[in-house]
Amino acid sequence: MPQHVVVVGAGVIGLSSAILLQQARYTVTIVARDFPAPFETMDPLTKINYTSPWGGAHNRWVPPHPSLPATLAREHAFSLRTYTHMQNLHASHPDTAGITFLKGVEYLERPGPEHLALSTPSNPNALNLPGNFRLLEESEFPADGGRVKWGCEYDTWCVNPMVYCSFLLRRFVHRGGRVVARELRRPEEVFAMIGSELGGNDGEAVAAVVNASGTGLVPDPDMTITRGQTCLVAEDCDATVTRQNADGSWTFCVPRGFEGGTVIGGTKEVNNWDVKPSMEVRAELLKKFGETYPKILGEKGELTVVRDIVGRRPTRNGGPRVEGEVMPGAGFVMHAYGLGGRGYELSWGVAEAVVEGVEAQIRGAEARL
Ligand SMILES: Cc1cc2nc3c(=O)[nH]c(=O)nc-3n(C[C@H](O)[C@H](O)[C@H](O)COP(=O)(O)OP(=O)(O)OC[C@H]3O[C@@H](n4cnc5c(N)ncnc54)[C@H](O)[C@@H]3O)c2cc1C
Ligand SMILES: *[C@@H]1O[C@H](CO)[C@@H](O)[C@H](O)[C@H]1NC(C)=O
Ligand SMILES: *[C@@H]1O[C@H](CO)[C@@H](O)[C@H](O)[C@H]1NC(C)=O
Repeated sequence: MPQHVVVVGAGVIGLSSAILLQQARYTVTIVARDFPAPFETMDPLTKINYTSPWGGAHNRWVPPHPSLPATLAREHAFSLRTYTHMQNLHASHPDTAGITFLKGVEYLERPGPEHLALSTPSNPNALNLPGNFRLLEESEFPADGGRVKWGCEYDTWCVNPMVYCSFLLRRFVHRGGRVVARELRRPEEVFAMIGSELGGNDGEAVAAVVNASGTGLVPDPDMTITRGQTCLVAEDCDATVTRQNADGSWTFCVPRGFEGGTVIGGTKEVNNWDVKPSMEVRAELLKKFGETYPKILGEKGELTVVRDIVGRRPTRNGGPRVEGEVMPGAGFVMHAYGLGGRGYELSWGVAEAVVEGVEAQIRGAEARL
């Protein structure tokens, strides 16, 4: 009989994990407080703790480097795996998955060692990034008096988050996945739920629980949030452009595609819980992006605001937590949370690690019988 795995969370991490677990022939139920819904009806006041709707979301490489935290190497490997999955999903479902492939352009005012290493191909740290990675010539930098010091472009992907997540949910259910809308106090609660509460038969045991609860409810002392304010505009853009400013702030755009407009961003404010967008910040974001990439302004010469966005990136001290844990008196919990500002970027790599963790646990348990 197939083993039953319950995934807590229906953000991008829970959904991707659920699909790969299902592919690995487990019976899978998703239990979550929030599920994907049209972005247009998503209420920021009640859904602020559900991060996935408020993301961009694009893929931008963050190369590992000996001078940076070692956890970045695993994250980078996750992002490469995600890239491959996105290519495949886009190829098989170009009109429905919510994925767009386009140029990613980066302009850095203060490039770190990980980027400078990419400029010296003979350097052993130089990475073979996919997507026709190319360094920009100085003549291709924004004309603003030499503030940009380093630039590159490559083919990358963006998703329209709620189109994409709804696609994942639909695919999961179409393939026999079960969903239960429920708020839990702790992920271990699932082990005490009876089969019928999980959409199955009474007496059906849960072999493993995946904790993909994002910002979560039970405080992990290492968890906090990083507030992000962005602004959705109606204009399309031909690239996802990211600029690192000398003061450490970021100016970027993420075209959502599928008539979802373009996200102009964005702030990164650790431990700021303010749910209200600031109008001064909006004006600043739009002004800076217009200066960086004037092409987006078109003939009208200005951007058309659709709505302001505030989101909470589930941030964890020490990096994402993707590991298994046996909870005494409950069962095996596979954690997959704390993805910060990279949940979409790393999603399929994390999901593969979740399947590996669950398989190792279940095989181990069977061997002990
Ligand atoms: C402004 C902004 C821009 C971003 N841009 C990008 C980008 O360009 N690229 C990128 O990769 N990432 C980006 N991100 C980050 C990305 O959005 C997040 O990393 C990702 O959405 C996190 O997904 P998650 O599944 O871990 O959590 P969530 O989406 O928060 O999902 C958590 C799930 O767990 C459920 N849950 C939580 N607690 C409970 C409970 N007690 N009981 C039941 N269910 C529960 C929730 O209901 C929900 O279903 C951005 C984020 C922001 C805010
Ligand atoms: C979001 O989470 C915070 C911290 O757990 C909580 O105080 C707040 O009530 C939650 N907001 C909503 C709208 O659920
Ligand atoms: C599950 O994940 C949340 C983050 O969403 C974390 O705070 C919590 O500690 C985890 N649960 C357990 C039981 O470890």
